[in-house]
Amino acid sequence: METSVQLVDMIRAFYNNDKDLFFKTALQIADQEAQSGHGAIAHEIKRLLKNSKAQVNPSITYEKTLKDILDEISIVLKPEERLGELIQNVQLKNDLKYLLHEYRERAKILAHGLSPRRKILLRGASGTGKSLTARIIAGELHLPLYTIFIDKIVTDAASAKLKELFTVIHKNRGVYFFDYFHAIGLEHYMNHDIRATNYVLHIFLQLLEQDRSDSIILVATNADKSLDRAILQRFDDILDFTLPDTASIEELLLNRLVGYWENTPYMQSLVRVAMGLTHAEITQACNNVIKYAILNNQKRVEDLSIQEAIAAIQSKYAR
Ligand SMILES: Nc1ncnc2c1ncn2[C@@H]1O[C@H](COP(=O)(O)OP(=O)(O)O)[C@@H](O)[C@H]1O
Ligand SMILES: [Mg+2]
Repeated sequence: METSVQLVDMIRAFYNNDKDLFFKTALQIADQEAQSGHGAIAHEIKRLLKNSKAQVNPSITYEKTLKDILDEISIVLKPEERLGELIQNVQLKNDLKYLLHEYRERAKILAHGLSPRRKILLRGASGTGKSLTARIIAGELHLPLYTIFIDKIVTDAASAKLKELFTVIHKNRGVYFFDYFHAIGLEHYMNHDIRATNYVLHIFLQLLEQDRSDSIILVATNADKSLDRAILQRFDDILDFTLPDTASIEELLLNRLVGYWENTPYMQSLVRVAMGLTHAEITQACNNVIKYAILNNQKRVEDLSIQEAIAAIQSKYAR
């Protein structure tokens, strides 16, 4: 009876990483073994505990350090978003599906000496779903999403900070999202202006290349297709985010206005007005028209109100 209670305690201690409970229980078992006349076993348990005791405290403080580093330069999320929420070109959606598949099946790939795609560049205009995709990847893989504050890295201690961060990436499996990556000097790199190139970028690319962790590293930029090959080569895959085409605009409108509007013959006119807007801008127009309906106690939205909401966004943001 006593032993089964202790067994449960041991398992609980393991899962909660509760070293105190683990030691207390192991000592109890040793004492019981001694009382039952199993002196050799009792002695061996105590010897093992004594040896490992020396390692316990450093390991606790090390875990704290990982957390400290992450707290300092990132924000953590446990996203719930799923693949179905992303409306993007067919190529991108297929690439993304395959990426998730490879990662889920990575044991098979690793067993053959290869590695799954883990270092991904998300490239495209702002408002086309790069941050959403980072949440979807983490959500689909049930991993925490760490969004790195680039400005906390680009400091005098950048090199040390980045090395620290890549240690964390190695020790703590997750999705690491470097948003607004161009902020660390991509333009200079692209212009081959080596002197102006931020050395942070060089260090980052080196560490990225050396990384053999189990984490996923996402880098987002709205720098266009002229990105240097030397940079592109460091990634396992590139996801190209495009502005929504006719079919995507239709899908967005139907998704975003669900419950307030259904497909009507007016759809084609709405699509024409929305052409050239980003996903985020169309989403915003839909939200505006729904909010207006709510405040006016209307259960439905009219074709014309949607068109006006889209046109209003066009006139504010049109490039
Ligand atoms: N491709 C997309 N599919 C569906 N919704 C999108 C898409 N792109 C943007 N949105 C909507 O706009 C919001 C902002 O987009 P975001 O992912 O932050 O764009 P980015 O990071 O590329 O600037 C998203 O949270 C989502 O509501
Ligand atoms: Mg974003």
